[in-house]
Amino acid sequence: MVQIANRRRHLHPLPVRIMHWLNAVTIFIMITSGWKIYNDEVLFGWLHFPEALTLGKWAQHGLQWHFFGMWILVINGLCYLTYGLVSGRFRRMLLPIRLSDLIATVKDTLHLKLSHDDPTKYNAIQKLLYVGVISVGILIVISGLAIWKPIQFSELVALFGSFQNARLVHFFCMAAIVAFVTVHVALALLVPQTLVSMFTGGPVVDDQRSTELKHKTAH
Ligand code: HEM
Repeated sequence: MVQIANRRRHLHPLPVRIMHWLNAVTIFIMITSGWKIYNDEVLFGWLHFPEALTLGKWAQHGLQWHFFGMWILVINGLCYLTYGLVSGRFRRMLLPIRLSDLIATVKDTLHLKLSHDDPTKYNAIQKLLYVGVISVGILIVISGLAIWKPIQFSELVALFGSFQNARLVHFFCMAAIVAFVTVHVALALLVPQTLVSMFTGGPVVDDQRSTELKHKTAH
């Protein structure tokens, strides 16, 4: 018989909260310094970011901020991925994402039913957005490495086809993260209870609940 130890912990355990807020500050640094660097050599002639929204006195200074943030983003991101995989948090909170749940949640949202019936679970849209932004986060780091050291990481450049393609991928990942953060912060403000939980940890939940249920139904 498999003995499953019941572990009770906050909905958002302390490591998740620390990593989440550190990531939020770092993303802010990365985006604003990235806009400074972009303005120095634009990809699209029609697009310049307002100087007031950029970080760094000039492009080189923006680059220094970008590299400073890069180390925090990568180290913090690796810690979050390791924690999510090892603790089972990804499996418990972010998976599975079923098409039927997704359609039902989209219908509810279109009917403006934004109620958080069970605040201890993410709905299908949240799961998709979180898994999506984590994947985009990985892609933005990989494309960033290709642009940073195109000779040392020439295989990565080859993966994207060319240096310019890697730049484009890096840019569109940034755009996706900005879109995500806009929706994410708006939703957090619409359902303030979730925002408070991301600071306090939220309700105490049973870690093994879903695993146990699966185990029981298998017999
Ligand atoms: C000021 C900015 C931000 C605020 C106010 C905020 C707020 C929140 C809140 C309230 C939750 C919990 C949602 C819930 O329980 O329903 C959450 C989770 C999450 N946020 Fe943010 N967030 C911010 C920035 C970011 C950024 C920049 C990213 C990534 C680019 C991000 C990625 C995530 C992810 C992946 C989760 C799920 C974490 C997990 O459960 O393991 N957030 N955020």
